[in-house]
Amino acid sequence: MTHPALVPGSVAVITGGASGIGLAAAKRFVATGIRVCIADIGAERIDKALREIAEVKGAGVEQVAGLETDVSKPEDLARLHQFVRNRWGRVDVLMNNAGIQPGSSIFDQQGTWDRVLAVNLGGAVLGTREFVPAMLAAGRPGVVINTGSKQGITTPPGDPAYNVSKAGLKVFTEALQHELRNTPGCQISAHLLIPGFVFTELTAHGRSEKPPAAWTPGQTVDFMLERLNAGDFYILCPDNDVPRALDERRILWAATDLVENRPPLSRWHPDYAPAFAQFAQIAPSGPIT
Ligand SMILES: NC(=O)c1ccc[n+]([C@@H]2O[C@H](COP(=O)([O-])OP(=O)(O)OC[C@H]3O[C@@H](n4cnc5c(N)ncnc54)[C@H](O)[C@@H]3O)[C@@H](O)[C@H]2O)c1
Repeated sequence: MTHPALVPGSVAVITGGASGIGLAAAKRFVATGIRVCIADIGAERIDKALREIAEVKGAGVEQVAGLETDVSKPEDLARLHQFVRNRWGRVDVLMNNAGIQPGSSIFDQQGTWDRVLAVNLGGAVLGTREFVPAMLAAGRPGVVINTGSKQGITTPPGDPAYNVSKAGLKVFTEALQHELRNTPGCQISAHLLIPGFVFTELTAHGRSEKPPAAWTPGQTVDFMLERLNAGDFYILCPDNDVPRALDERRILWAATDLVENRPPLSRWHPDYAPAFAQFAQIAPSGPIT
């Protein structure tokens, strides 16, 4: 089955669409006949991405557009919405995907916290609030994809601002889907994309070769489309190092810190690390190899 919004002629807006996962999504969408507007920062980056998208087999000149947009600014998102409506009349697919990961610590400068929260969490909240009311009013099938992270679920130590932003985005997207499914006549579904390790500008850290553990952005988007078409809300992507069974154990362990009254982040606590290591070996479907 194909998601009813992911069909030729639909209109998609992808934030952070000039590189990585967003750019790969733009290419896949265009290849299936969806019209795509990428929103990102930096005119040159957008132009370069548009040239790449135009090379996709079957891509028509009228099928792609781009607009400089800072997702942390409501006025930029309003301008983006107007731009797409002027061009194509509506939006059917919203991918709130823009993200940054500059690194952070608890007592980091306030600006780091402000920026990470404003882009990763604020950008998706603002994007949803800007676009979804008009999508609802149109009464057509629609889809909202918010790009979260495993770091927002298992919250490993080392980058608290990023983890908080992605944990907030998970909660927001869950609430959004609850709202949509309880709205009479609504044909829009929301989904949380949870990539594994994907080789992009965000994770390259100076590397030009994809590490063996990472997936490509294209692999990630292929998996996303397969799971969207299957109707999954949580699109939990594996990578070449971490199979789904191991993710499940990590997620379960994190959730049971509270239930078992263990210290937070006990997976990284010396007193509990051995118990976690043993727990992680016992996958529901057998030992993890
Ligand atoms: N790469 C991974 O392993 C990984 C894992 C989990 C989650 N993610 C998430 O996937 C999403 C896409 O990241 P990616 O890995 O493709 O990285 P990327 O750096 O290639 O893409 C992110 C894009 O967001 C854009 N962007 C940054 N700030 C913006 C702003 N204020 N307004 C508009 N655009 C902005 C960047 O210019 C860039 O083009 C992010 O939300 C990221 O947190 C990535």
